[in-house]
Amino acid sequence: MRADLPPPMHSPAPAVVWNLQAVGVQYGRVSALSGVTLRIAQGERVALVGSNGSGKSTLLRVLHGLVPASSGQVQQDGALRQAMLFQRPHMLRTSVQNNIVLGLWLRGTAWRDAKVQARTALQRVGLQAVAQQNARTLSGGQQQRLALARAWALRPDVLLLDEPTASLDPHAKREVEALMADFAASHASAGPAHPVTTVFSSHNLGQVKRLASRVVYLEHGCVLADLPVHDFFNGPLPQAAALFVQGEKV
Ligand SMILES: Nc1ncnc2c1ncn2[C@@H]1O[C@H](COP(=O)(O)OP(=O)(O)OP(=O)(O)O)[C@@H](O)[C@H]1O
Ligand SMILES: [Mg+2]
Repeated sequence: MRADLPPPMHSPAPAVVWNLQAVGVQYGRVSALSGVTLRIAQGERVALVGSNGSGKSTLLRVLHGLVPASSGQVQQDGALRQAMLFQRPHMLRTSVQNNIVLGLWLRGTAWRDAKVQARTALQRVGLQAVAQQNARTLSGGQQQRLALARAWALRPDVLLLDEPTASLDPHAKREVEALMADFAASHASAGPAHPVTTVFSSHNLGQVKRLASRVVYLEHGCVLADLPVHDFFNGPLPQAAALFVQGEKV
């Protein structure tokens, strides 16, 4: 007699990292975000696109808990470790290595362990040769790599990046992109079943194609399109988003 086949395995839906319901952010009379409803699950690689002033940085700041919503609701998995790279990374006036060590130490890592982890992180981004140099004397591309190393050393489950390659030359841009791709392919501190989640803003649509799994298009603080990356570049889009894509290509 034939044994019954086991029931098909269903992998559980990935955990939700953020759930935003009709979120608005008001700066005086400027409405930086309005009616943003967004669910981001573990392991997604979300690109935020839109013209200057459309609300990308504000949305990243909301996700990182730096800016409170003026209206609506932000729910977030508080157990996840987060790190954010800002549009202009802030370097402490000390050595490259200490920029990482201090970040770890402030979060409770013993100084000696922090030094070991900092060296590994510097090796990871190819900055070990300048470990003792003052971080403020690094070039723009090197500073961006140091900022990534600093984030990487914290072993975050979630990484937010605001235009991580905006002011870099093509070579540095490729290097930082490769690091971002590596990062997105790694898993979070909880183990292999917990992929890292990344959300980044970018004006570079080639980069969005290469790195994102999903694209959120913002205009005047509103989400006008929210699609898997393939559909964003190949499918029909709302007119404003289609014009933006055409404009950024030329
Ligand atoms: N701290 C602030 N105070 C007042 N207005 C602000 C503040 N931060 C942002 N804004 C306004 O909110 C709107 C959205 O700004 P935001 O920085 O989020 O846009 P962005 O999409 O990141 O633009 P960019 O592509 O230029 O970086 C803009 O009109 C901006 O002037
Ligand atoms: Mg911005």
